[in-house]
Amino acid sequence: SVLIHCYLLHKRNLSFIKVMNVGHRFLVNRVQDYIQSKIVYYLMNIHVHSHSIYLCRHGESEHNIQRRIGGDSELSPRGRQFASTLCEFIEEHKLSNLKVWTSQLRRTIQTAEELGVPYEQWKILNEIDAGLCEEMTYEMILNTFPEEFFLRDQDKYHYRYPGGESYQDLVQRLEPVIMELERQGNVLVICHQAVMRCLLAYFLDKSADDLPYLKCPLHTVMKLTPVAYGCKVEMFYLNVEAVNTHRDRPLVKPPD
Ligand code: F6P
Repeated sequence: SVLIHCYLLHKRNLSFIKVMNVGHRFLVNRVQDYIQSKIVYYLMNIHVHSHSIYLCRHGESEHNIQRRIGGDSELSPRGRQFASTLCEFIEEHKLSNLKVWTSQLRRTIQTAEELGVPYEQWKILNEIDAGLCEEMTYEMILNTFPEEFFLRDQDKYHYRYPGGESYQDLVQRLEPVIMELERQGNVLVICHQAVMRCLLAYFLDKSADDLPYLKCPLHTVMKLTPVAYGCKVEMFYLNVEAVNTHRDRPLVKPPD
């Protein structure tokens, strides 16, 4: 009995979380710092019921056609066509009880409006803030701020636009969305290129180096279904043409 007593005393000093009956009860012992409390929060929010997360970008926008980044432009005619095809997609896949989330930018809201179902707007789903470079094309950035352009190519994940954000900032900004996605059932997130890359990287466990180059084409829905030790991915191209906004990783790293 002395041994058992010593063992219990020893255990009481350790930091641990005991999850009982697949999340019905929790025993949290000596949680002492920020990371540990985050882990508790995370474990208390995840669930094992089967569900799918649908990710897509807004329909093609006027800025996409002009090759401008950022801004708050409206959908192009093809973008509107995508929105109505997305509505058919939801009906065909019988996605009942589907929650729809958008950012607070017009292109995602206009896409959701076509679906004829309630949707929730999240400011934190807004596209990466390009600061001084907002509404410029990549060519304009290269000509106006060549140093910035090359700095971004050197380390796209950590590079922060002057007066704007980096992918690393975006990942932090998206944490509450990710947590809520873990808690929910079926959700369709209508978002933006950089935002979709961050969400995808979380569910598919991609590295910070690969994250900013993940391919998230317009007018394509990605269905993520959590399975044991990972996520099953299905891609649905909805057959409405759109411009390609993807910029490949430079083959040769720019000079320091
Ligand atoms: O071009 C569309 C867009 O969503 C821009 O608003 C945004 O700045 C960009 O994609 C993000 O992609 P990248 O990080 O490759 O420039």
